[in-house]
Amino acid sequence: MSEVLFRAAWASPSNIALVKYWGKYGVQLPSNPSISFTLSECRTESRLELLPKSGEQQIEVYLDGEKKDSFVPKIAKFIQRIAPELDWLNEFNFRLHTRNTFPHSSGIASSASGMSALALICCDLHEQISGERISDFYRKASHLARLGSGSACRSVYGGLVSWGEHAAIEGSSQDFGTPFSGKLHPVFKDFQDCILLVHQGEKSVSSTVGHDLMNGHPFAEKRFELAGQNLASLVRILESGDLDAFIQLVESEALMLHGLMMSSVPYFILMKPNTLKIIEKIWDYRKQNGVPVLFTLDAGANVHLLYPAEFKAKVEKWIDSDLSSLCENKAYICDHVGQGPYRLNND
Ligand code: PMV
Repeated sequence: MSEVLFRAAWASPSNIALVKYWGKYGVQLPSNPSISFTLSECRTESRLELLPKSGEQQIEVYLDGEKKDSFVPKIAKFIQRIAPELDWLNEFNFRLHTRNTFPHSSGIASSASGMSALALICCDLHEQISGERISDFYRKASHLARLGSGSACRSVYGGLVSWGEHAAIEGSSQDFGTPFSGKLHPVFKDFQDCILLVHQGEKSVSSTVGHDLMNGHPFAEKRFELAGQNLASLVRILESGDLDAFIQLVESEALMLHGLMMSSVPYFILMKPNTLKIIEKIWDYRKQNGVPVLFTLDAGANVHLLYPAEFKAKVEKWIDSDLSSLCENKAYICDHVGQGPYRLNND
């Protein structure tokens, strides 16, 4: 085995958008601004080793210790994309070890956590190799992560993170994510997200295809405008702590995202019958018990059940008794707003 010349390891979490990014142009630039909660328990942990290279660049990827040749093209494409910014990238062979803390087939996208972990690793290696500090390490990592997967740029910070230019968000940019620095009501600091795994496995339509279908979508312009308006409203809600308004805005965003999928050409549906059954149960429970539980959806069938931390014990009991039977293999993951990525021990 050849000698490892440099190595770096990082853990980075997944995120869940409240105002959704759906539609892009150019090189992964968002058609509308978005904002997400960074999660905590759903993470990717990766270690990249740089090895001596002679001839063609070799890339090896190991998932949970097993060689995964099918992952190589995605990593190679990412490296090619960021190589103009990190001149050493083409000088080494790569060995990437990666694992997700959530099941690979759970339908939870690992691209945000995976690409943000890899971008952070590349920034770390850049500092080691060049011997120079990157002046804004996380901003650079967010920019690089964006080139791998748009939503990944929001995973390099903890808490609430926006992406895309917006007048209501200071420092916002199309190029990288911005940690939310507005006034935040305490209720949002430790919000819970229980991911109800309705359908574990490959999605029928990838988000790349979905984003592309926004080009020429009949509702595109209106959607991009509404996303901006929703973000402006959300900034006010985040300060006031108005949970009724939060519920209405976040659920509407999720349904609008899926409405866009259903009204694109070709159209598609990612929700499953149990997605709708869970949504109805959430609405009923909220009405009957006055507990502010709400849902959001990613580009998939799984339901993210969001609620304030003070209701944790009560809501988890209800999930177990009433919702888990609607999940595939009764599986769900209890997560919450987290602190963002961290460097791992390099061994
Ligand atoms: O980063 P991508 O290309 O996988 O797109 C993610 C899009 C959504 O998850 C549906 C919304 C979002 O803002 O994260």
